[in-house]
Amino acid sequence: MDRRSRPKRHEESRENSRRNPTTRTIRREAIRLEDVWVAYAGSGKPAIREINLFFPLGKLVLITGPNGAGKTTLLETCLGLLKPYRGKAFLLGVDTKSRKILEARRKCSYVPQDFMKPPYESYTARQAIELGLVLENTPDKNTRVEWAAKLLGIEDLLDRPLGTLSGGQQQRVYLARALARKPLVMLLDEPFSSLDRETRKTVAEILRNYVDRENTTVIIVSHDTAPIIELADTTIWMNEGKVVKVEAK
Ligand SMILES: Nc1ncnc2c1ncn2[C@@H]1O[C@H](COP(=O)(O)OP(=O)(O)OP(=O)(O)O)[C@@H](O)[C@H]1O
Ligand SMILES: [Mg+2]
Repeated sequence: MDRRSRPKRHEESRENSRRNPTTRTIRREAIRLEDVWVAYAGSGKPAIREINLFFPLGKLVLITGPNGAGKTTLLETCLGLLKPYRGKAFLLGVDTKSRKILEARRKCSYVPQDFMKPPYESYTARQAIELGLVLENTPDKNTRVEWAAKLLGIEDLLDRPLGTLSGGQQQRVYLARALARKPLVMLLDEPFSSLDRETRKTVAEILRNYVDRENTTVIIVSHDTAPIIELADTTIWMNEGKVVKVEAK
């Protein structure tokens, strides 16, 4: 089917949304942060503060800023892995402090900053991607794995143990795992860190196309803005725990 005429997933499920108000809320918004302050236990000062952000579904968002600016803290707050001590955070319309956050989180993919596996890791790349699908109710997990592997150009690596792959190859496996889940929201912490310049560009374009086709919101944290800044709908600059600049196209 032609890409442009293909109905988006949220349109396909409109009927279902009408019947189920929770689904309806979940379909509309990706992330909402209202005056969010987060601190780590034992730390005298907040790691992020006064954060007000809203991302609807279907956006490619870049978050950048220096080391220690609070970018990872912000991502983990969006997922509800860290809870605000002041303000409110919502993922897919669900307050991250509510019990329903687990259900919302299952519709998301997160690739953390420290992804490298030790050299003795014996899972193959295929198994690593399949692990991302264990809770998915899809009849053909194999097709999903092959689709994501092809997208990231790692078909030849699928049966190699993860620990024998280079950093850039491992990074592509984790991106494939995140995509194979077909999430509504994808949060990627420094997804370009081990990729060469050419692959960074390719991966940025894959993510842009994915956002447009699936109406997913992809949030990328990256020091290196070059591969993605032209493609992003919104760029957010952070410094010392605060959002210092937002640029929306
Ligand atoms: N587990 C932790 N315990 C205590 N303080 C932490 C912890 N993790 C981060 N911090 C502090 O919170 C602040 C924000 O850290 P964060 O990891 O969010 O920054 P970042 O922007 O992701 O940095 P980087 O670019 O280096 O990844 C820093 O001052 C950091 O020292
Ligand atoms: Mg970080």
